[in-house]
Amino acid sequence: MISTYQILLLLIYSCLANDSIIVLSAPYESKPVSYVLSCGTSGQDAIDSDGRKWSSDVNFLSPSDNSTTSEARFQDPSLPSTVPYMNARIFTSKSSYSFIVPPRTRLWLRLHFYPSNYDNLDPSEAYFSVIADGFTLLKNFSASITAKALTQAYMAREFGLRPVETGVLNVTIVPFEGSYAFINGIEVIPMPKDVFQHPATLVGYSDQHVDLHNSSLQTMFRINVGGQFIAPNYDSGGLTRTWLDDSMYLLGAAFGVTSKAAENIRIRYSKDVTEDIAPLNVYSTARTMGPDPDVNRNYNLTWVFRVDPGFIYVVRLHFCELHFTKVNQRVFDISVNNQTVEKADVIAWAGSQGLPVYKDYAVHVEDQPGADDIEIWVALHPSVSTKPEHYDAILNGLEVFKVNDTNATLAGLNPEPSAMLVNAEEHEKEFSPPGSRLGRLLGEVAGGIFCSVLVAAIFVFVHRRSNNWLMIDGDFHTSTIGGHCRRFALWEIKQGTNSFDESNVIGIGGFGNVYKGTIDHGTTKVAIKRSNPNSEQGVKEFHTEIQMLSKLRHQHLVSLIGFCDENGEMILVYDYMANGTLREHLYNTDKPPLPWKKRLEIAIGAAKGLHYLHTGAAKYTIIHRDVKTTNILLDDKWVSKVSDFGLSKIGSNDDQTHVNTMVKGSFGYLDPEYYRRQQLTEKSDVYSFGVVLFEVLCGRPPLKRNLCREQACLVDWALHCLRKGNVHEIIDPCLKGKVNPWCLEIFAETAQKCVSDCGSNRPSMGDVLRNLDFCLQLEENTDTLL
Ligand SMILES: *[C@@H]1O[C@H](CO)[C@@H](O)[C@H](O)[C@H]1NC(C)=O
Ligand SMILES: *[C@@H]1O[C@H](CO)[C@@H](O)[C@H](O)[C@H]1NC(C)=O
Ligand SMILES: *[C@@H]1O[C@H](CO)[C@@H](O)[C@H](O)[C@H]1NC(C)=O
Ligand SMILES: *[C@@H]1O[C@H](CO)[C@@H](O)[C@H](O)[C@H]1NC(C)=O
Ligand SMILES: *[C@@H]1O[C@H](CO)[C@@H](O)[C@H](O)[C@H]1NC(C)=O
Ligand SMILES: *[C@@H]1O[C@H](CO)[C@@H](O)[C@H](O)[C@H]1NC(C)=O
Ligand SMILES: *[C@@H]1O[C@H](CO)[C@@H](O)[C@H](O)[C@H]1NC(C)=O
Ligand SMILES: *[C@@H]1O[C@H](CO)[C@@H](O)[C@H](O)[C@H]1NC(C)=O
Ligand SMILES: *[C@@H]1O[C@H](CO)[C@@H](O)[C@H](O)[C@H]1NC(C)=O
Repeated sequence: MISTYQILLLLIYSCLANDSIIVLSAPYESKPVSYVLSCGTSGQDAIDSDGRKWSSDVNFLSPSDNSTTSEARFQDPSLPSTVPYMNARIFTSKSSYSFIVPPRTRLWLRLHFYPSNYDNLDPSEAYFSVIADGFTLLKNFSASITAKALTQAYMAREFGLRPVETGVLNVTIVPFEGSYAFINGIEVIPMPKDVFQHPATLVGYSDQHVDLHNSSLQTMFRINVGGQFIAPNYDSGGLTRTWLDDSMYLLGAAFGVTSKAAENIRIRYSKDVTEDIAPLNVYSTARTMGPDPDVNRNYNLTWVFRVDPGFIYVVRLHFCELHFTKVNQRVFDISVNNQTVEKADVIAWAGSQGLPVYKDYAVHVEDQPGADDIEIWVALHPSVSTKPEHYDAILNGLEVFKVNDTNATLAGLNPEPSAMLVNAEEHEKEFSPPGSRLGRLLGEVAGGIFCSVLVAAIFVFVHRRSNNWLMIDGDFHTSTIGGHCRRFALWEIKQGTNSFDESNVIGIGGFGNVYKGTIDHGTTKVAIKRSNPNSEQGVKEFHTEIQMLSKLRHQHLVSLIGFCDENGEMILVYDYMANGTLREHLYNTDKPPLPWKKRLEIAIGAAKGLHYLHTGAAKYTIIHRDVKTTNILLDDKWVSKVSDFGLSKIGSNDDQTHVNTMVKGSFGYLDPEYYRRQQLTEKSDVYSFGVVLFEVLCGRPPLKRNLCREQACLVDWALHCLRKGNVHEIIDPCLKGKVNPWCLEIFAETAQKCVSDCGSNRPSMGDVLRNLDFCLQLEENTDTLL
């Protein structure tokens, strides 16, 4: 039911520490042909955000096929790429795709779905089946219900089909009577022979095995235990599998520690475990139980997976010893569904440190009437009876595959969305027409926490009829957020900040302190924001920030790497911005003054970040609400990035309206119109950005109380001087004579427009950006003239 692959590409957007990925995928030479199709497109190949090429599906349908094509009306911001999700093929009657495939070769078939409005069809009315090589893969399938239950906008399903005898694979799509079907992407990838070579041991019957030769499988879960998300591009063998991080599948609070191979350990494939089995990245990271033997003997390291009843599942465990070198140093029991299946000594199995091995166990999962969730439990526990040197266990990777039943079906029932979501939706229906905005908002907001597969998220919807804005205040339990970003253990954070040593404090905000620190054993510099756990406001802002930043990726927005919520802590981990805040380079500082051109480039970067928030996230305007020079950060290359999304608000930009909200923001930057009318629009950010532009130009704070009344407020003073045509009175003394006068004039005029009293007279961020770009061009031309 919950396929790993569904949860996939969204994570590319999220907190992937790119540099920690080891690129291993060697070119997959002489491989049989794969089909990677973007359905509903024609003509040229399209490239997705990962650089994969998707072709049109037209040539794989019968010439008399009467399906239609359509483009989605809305682009959910959580979509990793418009390809293949924004185009669909729509079927109102039975249709087939035919692919010529190599003989005696298993195939991966991946189906991609993005339930959305196509041709004004209601996505919740699509019910269909998919049949391939006689196997029913999906039956009465509703992508819309499934997406809702998983709180994500799109999904993929991966199947491992047995070899097709005829050499032609037909994938048949059958809409339910009176309904329709759609599909966004299809991949057919030949599978190397060794992926499913050996029979799996049947749990509970150590002498019985399940042979998979004549069976087809569905990939349910594929995780890189103790490691990070691995995107299709980084999979080994060019097999484009997706590996998720394991934190969201761990049971309870006892989740051990993650570890990584030391640099001197070489992990190598063998003829038993080739690169087709899993990337080295999976084997080079692990989860172990922790350093304390007494703690370890009293708990199980357990992963839990929700599955459909009535099927056999194959659980594949990947191991690679990274610390020990001898037999009997680390021995542990593996149990699947509370039955001990084997004693594990990874060195004894593999023969040496750094050599991967994997084990397959088959388990029959029956329906349990009355049980809410049917689950597979995989647990590890030190094998106390064999008296190993260390009471510990290790696991590096884990996959779960569903095996077809005797009727050649792999299809389960549609999941049931949580009661709370259903209630929220019914509430919404009372207020707005069908095709509701709620579904989209759910996709949007919940998309950010879609890993809450096991825990229902609680939404509080406040519907304001007066202005057509639907606002969501998420009151999410923190444990539902994990997985999407990296979740750190408190000890890792403590280790990286020397137990929050004061000497590491690099900033103090309303939220708490910001520390300089490191992660991954000191290899990566980060900024760590630790909030004051006592403030209720903090909890909300903590969640807002995770939701916002885990979905937004932009060169000019600060990237969130992960978070830590252990022990009630609210800690956010960001990219380290070596050059600190913009403000500390403008005034009250010992730092050398910034040259004008650099100031322009910084302002342009920040404007791009805000422009993206206002427009780039497709259907929502995101209002930052706290634009100021201390929230514009500079990295080691002086690229500026907007930070601090704790106050941000999302709204639909269908209607040109505003949000009613409590006035929040920082003194000196506050939009007077927002203050008076308590109505927030993106023009409030434009106002604050105008104040930033004046600070950049004048090199002084927005408020300076020790000055005379006339000059205390930067905006008032600057407007006063500009009206008199006296820009030289306000310009930062260290810029005098160093700015192209034309450039100066346009810059000052732009800032002036931004702080117009009435929001409708202010330019959009796009206009501001164009003006600043023009300033920069003028300035660059001055350089060449001189
Ligand atoms: C990740 O690394 C690759 C290769 O070094 C690079 O091309 C890509 O832009 C990086 N992605 C991000 C999000 O930094
Ligand atoms: C075309 O669509 C109609 C229903 O709209 C269906 O009855 C017919 O069989 C379809 N033709 C083909 C070739 O699939
Ligand atoms: C696949 O589909 C084609 C065209 O619809 C049909 O001629 C062929 O018999 C089908 N093959 C199988 C194995 O079902
Ligand atoms: C698989 O099916 C083929 C024919 O359908 C049969 O000859 C072969 O014995 C089967 N293999 C196994 C392992 O059951
Ligand atoms: C395993 O046992 C625990 C209690 O010890 C129980 O809650 C859980 O449901 C069991 N898991 C399975 C899959 O039977
Ligand atoms: C660990 O798992 C085994 C097998 O399911 C079970 O018998 C044992 O009670 C569990 N121990 C703890 C501490 O949960
Ligand atoms: C899967 O389907 C094939 C073909 O119908 C069948 O031979 C095989 O026994 C099925 N597998 C299981 C585990 O029932
Ligand atoms: C297979 O289909 C038959 C008839 O439809 C049904 O009675 C049986 O329960 C099905 N078997 C499984 C494993 O679903
Ligand atoms: C199809 O799925 C829906 C939603 O899960 C369910 O209400 C309906 O009864 C199913 N229809 C059939 C024929 O199984």
